[in-house]
Amino acid sequence: MTTAQALEWSAPGGSGVPADRLATLLGRDTLHPPLYASLALGVRALVADGRLPVGARLPAERDLAAALGVSRVTVSAAYRRLREDGWADARQGSGTWTRLPEASGVVAAWIPGAPRQGLLDLAHAAPSGPPEVADAYTAALAALPRYLPGHGYLPEGLPELRARVAERYTARGLPTTAEQVLVVPGASGGVTAAMRALCGAGDRVVVEHPGWPNALDVLAVLRARPVPVALDPGDTAAFVAGAHRAARQTAARAAYLVPDFSNPTGASLSAQDRERLVVSLQQQDVTVLADETMVDLALEGQRVPPPLAASGRPGAVVSIGSLSKSVWAGVRVGWMRAERPLLSRVAAAMSREHGAMPVLDQLAACALLDGLDAALVRRREQLREQRDVLVRALRTALPDWGVPVPDGGLALWCSLPPGTSSSVLADTCEPLGLRLASGSRFGTGHAFDDRLRLPFTQPPAVLRAAVDVLAAAAGASAGRAPARSPLVL
Ligand SMILES: Cc1ncc(COP(=O)(O)O)c(C=O)c1O
Repeated sequence: MTTAQALEWSAPGGSGVPADRLATLLGRDTLHPPLYASLALGVRALVADGRLPVGARLPAERDLAAALGVSRVTVSAAYRRLREDGWADARQGSGTWTRLPEASGVVAAWIPGAPRQGLLDLAHAAPSGPPEVADAYTAALAALPRYLPGHGYLPEGLPELRARVAERYTARGLPTTAEQVLVVPGASGGVTAAMRALCGAGDRVVVEHPGWPNALDVLAVLRARPVPVALDPGDTAAFVAGAHRAARQTAARAAYLVPDFSNPTGASLSAQDRERLVVSLQQQDVTVLADETMVDLALEGQRVPPPLAASGRPGAVVSIGSLSKSVWAGVRVGWMRAERPLLSRVAAAMSREHGAMPVLDQLAACALLDGLDAALVRRREQLREQRDVLVRALRTALPDWGVPVPDGGLALWCSLPPGTSSSVLADTCEPLGLRLASGSRFGTGHAFDDRLRLPFTQPPAVLRAAVDVLAAAAGASAGRAPARSPLVL
């Protein structure tokens, strides 16, 4: 689309988008049943990634129906769907115009959908629980009677768990005492509580882009403003420079970062990056919230640099961790490392809201931390094998996709060939039995529809079956009929 075209398509008295042109952009043979929904998604993807300008007049229903070889009712239903979802406006007497949905301020939380029989789930990057979890709960039950004489409220967490977490930080090069550790309900609970303590409405918060969607959701709920900084795993020094500039230009109050095997890109900051980043941000009074949920997931035997907090003065960095990716998300135990008085403030707020964390889960977490290093050997082996299976299957079945090989984390951040939209792909795959999270979920402002995050947290058979569905769906977009997944799991 040239600038002249964009102006012509958007001008009040202009010709609007020619039906033939829109049909070409959509791909004439790519629609699949239900046709109206597929057409609406196609237009939405074009607006989201900028190939159709916002404020362009869409073709008359009759013209687009003729250009696509569908009924006028189909086009009419598609336009209605676009209007209902906020991607188009009807203007009295002058047709249908593209627009972006209003930012409601609050984005729906990204909660895993209920597991469905036969559905392959590649929307969530969360490994299944290893046998150690059940063993840990057995040990926890045996230890529980020691705590029964007390009232059971331990607002900062079980002392023996805080001590174990402190030991792990110390072993990673960040001397820590149990008093600097607060037990929280998973990293999500820690991130929410820390953001609430650090920033409020209108505050700017530097975030990596792409990044973990739930952190963006929390900022939206707090009405804080994310300041996205591009994160490219191949050039993390550029991210460090970008974060410095962004913080300076926006007078940011905080930064939310995933320094190890970031979700979704798998990018990690080197020791030098960390040092530079923390020094630059603390000079500008920006508190760093370091989400270390992925820190244990180095897949190539490499040493992970010391925590970000080791580079800053006390209080410059708040660190968050959990057992969710190293062990299992169902345990729901996480921790925050910070200095008092911030930690006391967060503890008081959390105690008001939740009372305290369950004693049994914390005892199980103690047992899991005691056996963590041995369990991680198996977890990393399993993830490495699954990553390699997924990479091979994708490169064979979809050779025009960009499939990177991250050296840690849980997911591949794939680039799609020109014209392929991950939101359309996700909608195409769901009825075929594969659930995906579209790339745009990981960005602000509709970015990354040309990317797809594929977790390698499932067994090889599921990953191969998922790639079969992806290939069939991508084939459907190229004009071939979609096939059903041959494997029902
Ligand atoms: C970067 C990051 N932080 C936190 C979480 C959630 O962690 P938890 O289950 O401990 O709340 C996730 C889960 O995907 C994540 O990717």
